[in-house]
Amino acid sequence: MAALDIEGLSSGYNGVPVIRDINITVGDGEIVALLGPNGAGKTTTLLTVSGLNPILDGDIKLFGASIKGRKAHMISRSGLAHVPEDRSLFFQLTVAENLRLGAAKGSADINQALRYFPALEQLMDRKAGLLSGGEQQMLAMGRALTVKPKLLMVDEMSLGLAPIIVERLLPVLRQIADETGCGILLVEQHVHLALTIADRAYVLSHGNMVLEDTAEHLRNNRHLLESSYLGGEEIEAAAEELGAESAPSTTFSAAEIDSSTSLSAEVAHTATSADSEPPAEA
Ligand SMILES: Nc1ncnc2c1ncn2[C@@H]1O[C@H](COP(=O)(O)OP(=O)(O)O)[C@@H](O)[C@H]1O
Ligand SMILES: [Mg+2]
Repeated sequence: MAALDIEGLSSGYNGVPVIRDINITVGDGEIVALLGPNGAGKTTTLLTVSGLNPILDGDIKLFGASIKGRKAHMISRSGLAHVPEDRSLFFQLTVAENLRLGAAKGSADINQALRYFPALEQLMDRKAGLLSGGEQQMLAMGRALTVKPKLLMVDEMSLGLAPIIVERLLPVLRQIADETGCGILLVEQHVHLALTIADRAYVLSHGNMVLEDTAEHLRNNRHLLESSYLGGEEIEAAAEELGAESAPSTTFSAAEIDSSTSLSAEVAHTATSADSEPPAEA
């Protein structure tokens, strides 16, 4: 039984789907990266798993049971933790208070947060609003750990953080998955970094799943990722070859091309240091 099974899922806003027929599986202790350009539907997917967005078609199974008809707070009690894009911290409250609020009354396991983010120990009495971006992200992830999740979803952990901070934080996710057996679904724009800690990856584009592969295969075949972000024509041609009636939509907005270009720049950059291992954790 997988921690998460998304089966033929469509979801969106006001009854209009923005993701269509999505399939994603996350096993226990597995890290799965959900990649794709801006507006692809990654956040929508995570919100739907959390019960905050409606399922329009298909199903989502958490730990083997469908979430259909269950309220968001009941879904999270079954062992799901979601660190949203905006981190959802209480800026006027201290770090300790934020950690205590992470779980149902009295049940927050703060030690679990400190085990993986020991730097929080010195910050316990500081207001969350006074923390640096990296410290806030540690707090958001630490708070998620206080419920001892069996599935952790992290949306754009690196947003606004310096790459060096991201390089330090991402390996902690690998440690959490390995040591606690928690499955992790990770949305991350630092694609090459995400692939160094992930087991598998999916690429969403315009609400359609355009690629699914092992992280290792994607690390060693970067053109696959580049074409999934950039190469609409290739997908269209492949679909035509297969005799598909309608190919996935492949027109990109200027903003998306922009973020795709930075992906290829990133890919090109990492290609030059392809053989070097990620920096070891201090
Ligand atoms: N609250 C909302 N109401 C209507 N449309 C939305 C809302 N949130 C996101 N969308 C649209 O859904 C699509 C997918 O968005 P999102 O899931 O946030 O993408 P990503 O996280 O991959 O950048 C986009 O076209 C976006 O404009
Ligand atoms: Mg998003």
